[in-house]
Amino acid sequence: MKTQALPGFRDFYPAEAALRNHIFSVWRSVAGRYGFEEYDGPPLEPLKLYTDKSGSEIVQQLYNFLDKGGREISLRPEMTPTLARMVAARAQGLKKPIRWFSIPQLFRYERQQRGRLREHFQLNVDLIGETSPLADAEVIAVSIDVLRELGLTENDFKVRVSDRNVMRALVLAAGVPEGLVDKAFAACDKIDREPAEVLIEKMVAGGISEAAGAEVLKVAGIKGGEALRAALRGLADEDSAKQLFECIDSLRAMGLDGYVEIDCSIVRGLDYYTGIVFELFDAGKSLRAICGGGRYDNLTRDIGGVALPALGFGMGDVVLGELLKDKGLLPRVESQISVFAVAVDSDDLPEVLSLAHELRDKGLSVEYALKGQSVGKQMKVAASRDARVVLVIGAAEREESVVVVRDMAAGTETKVSRELVIERVTGLAASI
Ligand code: HAM
Repeated sequence: MKTQALPGFRDFYPAEAALRNHIFSVWRSVAGRYGFEEYDGPPLEPLKLYTDKSGSEIVQQLYNFLDKGGREISLRPEMTPTLARMVAARAQGLKKPIRWFSIPQLFRYERQQRGRLREHFQLNVDLIGETSPLADAEVIAVSIDVLRELGLTENDFKVRVSDRNVMRALVLAAGVPEGLVDKAFAACDKIDREPAEVLIEKMVAGGISEAAGAEVLKVAGIKGGEALRAALRGLADEDSAKQLFECIDSLRAMGLDGYVEIDCSIVRGLDYYTGIVFELFDAGKSLRAICGGGRYDNLTRDIGGVALPALGFGMGDVVLGELLKDKGLLPRVESQISVFAVAVDSDDLPEVLSLAHELRDKGLSVEYALKGQSVGKQMKVAASRDARVVLVIGAAEREESVVVVRDMAAGTETKVSRELVIERVTGLAASI
């Protein structure tokens, strides 16, 4: 019976695995530069962890089922609730601020399209225990530096930043009743994906007046610090953008302000965000967000009973991979080996095995034929594996206690004594 991977799930052939490893290694190295430590949690969690706090969009996409013990469980669709639980459980003993990162595989039953699958890996970088907007700037800087490290520039992507407190002040001033702010936020979140009439209709169905709905869309259209200052002027909550402006000032001091712009359409689809929120998009906005995050100051309290300010982001490997492909920034797949050892005859095999093993112990990648083959055939395999050095051992060489060493790049061949051959080959392989 022929089977295929499920829709939205990937097979990672070596080229795809190489891209994944490349992305992961940049994620790890940049997170490490900012002092973040790696953690992980279980891929299966109690369903309730998500139904209570993540918001309806994610809840509709859960891979949930009853386990054999009758428990309601779900594959993790995101990492933040797990993190909040883990931190709250050990809050007393952990030094603040906590800087943690993780690279979980996440599962969401979404409609498959470019940049959107049913599983993805997501870098999660979170900072817990700090209210200062310098922490927000720090986390945004990590996300920018990951993309810079992957070779992307100011012309390739932008961070769009906003603040839910500012948006709250603005939508209230637009005439949205206090209890319906979430409905206004839901419309802002969809502003690029649905026509204005549809969004207004949805707000009206939710109890917001048509006039207020139209104002909300105007608010969501605000871009840039000057326009935001002007919109806030005279409001009771005129100061609500203080944190946002401080965060942007810090990014300016780091030299990263060219990557950032204020954009009031960013409110984020998840329910738990409480302050500054941001998303990273490719400059042409042809893909979904590369990364999204923000402040969620109430989540550790709501999930684990310990109140701690917190913020962070999730960056997916799928959209990032698409962008790297578009920009010609995929890593070169290296299948080159250091050494191929040729046995002239089956009697030479024990010597080939002994030599190969010594070289592998030195950290070199070594291959040899796994069944008897002519020397010509073995040389062909060595060339197809792009071996840096080929060693040939026959009866004559064993007799003389030497090995023929062929430098494939230089096209030269020398006889080296068995005693010195490991050192010589290690040196040659290092000169790749
Ligand atoms: P999110 O916006 O749901 O946030 O996801 C973050 C990123 O993960 C997205 O921008 C996207 O690149 C990627 N992503 C999400 N779903 C998919 C999918 N179905 N296929 C491919 N990529 C996807 C969160 O998950 C928050 N928990 C992030 C966070 C961490 N906030 C604070 N800390």
